[in-house]
Amino acid sequence: MKVLVIGGGAREHALCRSLSLDPDVNALYCAPGNAGIAEVAELRPVDALDGAAVARLATELEADLVVVGPEAPLVAGVSDAVRAAGIPVFGPSAEAAQLEGSKAFAKDVMAAADVPTARSYVCTTPEEVDTALDAFGAPYVVKDDGLAAGKGVVVTEDRAAARAHALGCDRVVIEEYLDGPEVSLFAITDGVTVLPLQPAQDFKRALDGDEGPNTGGMGAYSPLPWADPKLVDEVMETVLQPTVDELRHRGTPFSGLLYAGLAITSRGVRVIEFNARFGDPETQVVLARLRTPLAGVLLHAANGTLDTEPPLRWSADAAVTVVIASHNYPETPRTGDPIEGLADVAAEDGPDTYVLHAGTRREGEAVVSAGGRVLSVTATGSDLAQAREKAYKAVARIRLDGSQHRTDIAAKAAEGR
Ligand code: AMP
Ligand code: GLY
Repeated sequence: MKVLVIGGGAREHALCRSLSLDPDVNALYCAPGNAGIAEVAELRPVDALDGAAVARLATELEADLVVVGPEAPLVAGVSDAVRAAGIPVFGPSAEAAQLEGSKAFAKDVMAAADVPTARSYVCTTPEEVDTALDAFGAPYVVKDDGLAAGKGVVVTEDRAAARAHALGCDRVVIEEYLDGPEVSLFAITDGVTVLPLQPAQDFKRALDGDEGPNTGGMGAYSPLPWADPKLVDEVMETVLQPTVDELRHRGTPFSGLLYAGLAITSRGVRVIEFNARFGDPETQVVLARLRTPLAGVLLHAANGTLDTEPPLRWSADAAVTVVIASHNYPETPRTGDPIEGLADVAAEDGPDTYVLHAGTRREGEAVVSAGGRVLSVTATGSDLAQAREKAYKAVARIRLDGSQHRTDIAAKAAEGR
């Protein structure tokens, strides 16, 4: 099978790594990719937001499957363009991707499907904003309705800051604060059949102890030893299947990866957000544990034949990933700094420890930083403590001037807290 992956972050590196290990994949391309992905896939330049260009590239490569990684191309209709060219694509249509592209749309779908989520108001005027803020009280949760690359959500005790953020958005969702640990649960779906993956936890704040600003994600681990073993079944029944059914009944079936961001509150599971694609960095740990070859599953989802796929097989190992971010991330990250030590990880650490690239590019012989999140250092081990130790040992080998990483990824879970 010939597979083309669209995107160029650590998530796409994890996808390409898994696909490259799949015996059914005999040609693997990534567009535009990055310096690390170049080691497992052939890179092609493309404007990932240009559906016609992606469809042309897929046709030229005679791809049997296109996998669209990030949300922006999905919302821009890249899957639709590839599908229209007659090529199977893993990734929802632009209409179905509104589940991520519009918080208000997601809330409407959840209300119709009776999916548990925070109570909310959609506001467009200062009067509506004030009414909603006062209805819920602090802590305030204010979400830009549209795609905002992880920067659209403000959670704050400060009413003035909440109000200022709300007034800076055209349309805003103001909602009830949800207390409790967060879980990311992904499902692969063809619009009818839903196949859940294993849950993971992401660390969204920049600094240790969940301090500092929100980021795209600073690390992740899986499995979650503290979670109720029935969690996946419960979320399938109350969230994932009803959402997929609702979108199909609306005539906009969702096929691809449905990402449920959940809060485990004292009153039960609540949806914090949906995404229409694999999460980053959770994908790095979830795919590290997936034993079923990936390409066939994604192709079945693309072709509407997921009902023929047996349940996914998982490794009993634990996985941890630690993100190394640039100086000044998530504000204005500094780029162009050389990255050293990558070869040491490859040479010294075993095959269960590896570095996935996010924002990197090659400059002659050197690999340099090219984005906010630069690397996602991933390891598996017999338990979280071992996976953590291996990941941090590799992190210590890497040198990137001014870089930052959290030192507490999976720490609490590894200690049984
Ligand atoms: P989102 O972009 O919707 O995932 O929001 C980013 C982060 O903001 C989430 O991972 C949560 O940590 C936090 N957040 C979002 N919605 C809520 C909520 N209703 N209550 C508490 N925290 C929230
Ligand atoms: N890890 C958060 C996200 O992918 O949106």
